[in-house]
Amino acid sequence: MSQLKVNLDKIHNLVSPDEIKSMQKEIEEAQATLHNKSGKGNDYLGWLNLPSEITEEEISSIEETVQQINESSEILVVVGIGGSYLGSRAVIDALSNNFSYLLSKEKRKAPLVLFAGQNIGEDYIHELLSILDDKTYSIVVISKSGTTTEPAIAFRLLKQHLENKHGKEKAKSRIFAVTDKSKGALLELANQEGYKTFVIPDDVGGRFSVLTPVGLLPIAAAGFNIRELINGAKTMQSITSGTSNLDENPSLLYAAARNALYKKGKKIEILATYTPNLHYFIEWWKQLYGESEGKDGKGIFPAGVDFTSDLHSMGQMIQDGERNIFETVIKITNPKNKITVPEDANNLDKLNYIAGKRIHEVNDMATLGTILAHVDGNVPNIQIELSSINENVLGQTIYFYEKACAVSGYTLGVNPFDQPGVEAYKKNMFALLGKPGFEKETEEIRKKIN
Ligand code: PA5
Repeated sequence: MSQLKVNLDKIHNLVSPDEIKSMQKEIEEAQATLHNKSGKGNDYLGWLNLPSEITEEEISSIEETVQQINESSEILVVVGIGGSYLGSRAVIDALSNNFSYLLSKEKRKAPLVLFAGQNIGEDYIHELLSILDDKTYSIVVISKSGTTTEPAIAFRLLKQHLENKHGKEKAKSRIFAVTDKSKGALLELANQEGYKTFVIPDDVGGRFSVLTPVGLLPIAAAGFNIRELINGAKTMQSITSGTSNLDENPSLLYAAARNALYKKGKKIEILATYTPNLHYFIEWWKQLYGESEGKDGKGIFPAGVDFTSDLHSMGQMIQDGERNIFETVIKITNPKNKITVPEDANNLDKLNYIAGKRIHEVNDMATLGTILAHVDGNVPNIQIELSSINENVLGQTIYFYEKACAVSGYTLGVNPFDQPGVEAYKKNMFALLGKPGFEKETEEIRKKIN
């Protein structure tokens, strides 16, 4: 059963239900293009069937490795960037206690998962290595291309640190690689060193890879139920099947609404959460939509906010700045914990008027009050309602967003599965660092900076 609902009531002052309905043909055609594999980037559609095609053998192999990591390590360091990082971080953060880094391993029942290779911060890696000096740990290194600079640098340092700690031979049994099945520097290294490897299928691009070992291995190692995550995704795969229509398929509805808003000049989508655990889910969404749609001079700019915190920083801009934005709010109907505002005899903080109310109810009223204020300020509002946060719901939500992203990209007229623009910074960085093979670029860039 679907645990996710798309509510468009609060966009109707700008886009009417009839206008959404009038997009039916265009949106359903975009979906057909996706399913009959006749569109751009059609060799990267493996993610469409991942939930129903993952095998028991693949899941068991992940679970076996997870047990090995759990038995040997207080910490698991996951090394990766972009699509090889954000999906697992999104799910782990969403499901974790916000303070899990302060809990003992016994309480957490799993190693603490830390991330590296998603930046080139010298202090970051130095501080991580210092923490690891007196901890037991394992490493999962993830890179589809096997050649990405940021994770490669982090892995080189971590590998040396682990080898210094345990000796080369023992370190090998604590390193796991997730990469391409037949090519790339990481695969070569893994084969040479004898690391256990997991394969990222050829036809699944980085940002669509959460439901491969890229996401599943770290998520399972953090102690979460990947079978339920996959089950949730499977449910959404069936709800959003290639034969479903605009009325019954939430991904199509969301894709239609954002394209309709874009055509009316709403060039920025702000995804808002009122639940701190979803911060990295928004980061994952930003990459999924930014890298998939932002090309050929087109695309909705995906931004993210954590409310209510950001109402005290970004609220003014959203309420009153240039009217080129729309907002999508992820609402959680049933948070798992219950806590109420206590009565206070002195009432000096004047809060007794909400004494006895659940914090969730206060948050809900903040959400509703903000939505109404933003709609009054000409910021149309899409609501994505999730019943709660658990593995099944997250699986549904991941698949929902992936499917909507692909349909939305095709509706916009771009290839949602490539990312040619990402190469520009890499070329300059390699030229500046003097990478062999980039001599011509080095000469050109020197002229630019002198
Ligand atoms: O979505 C994508 O393809 C990218 O964000 C990649 O995931 C990211 O650049 C990391 O690439 P790789 O896994 O090859 O190291």
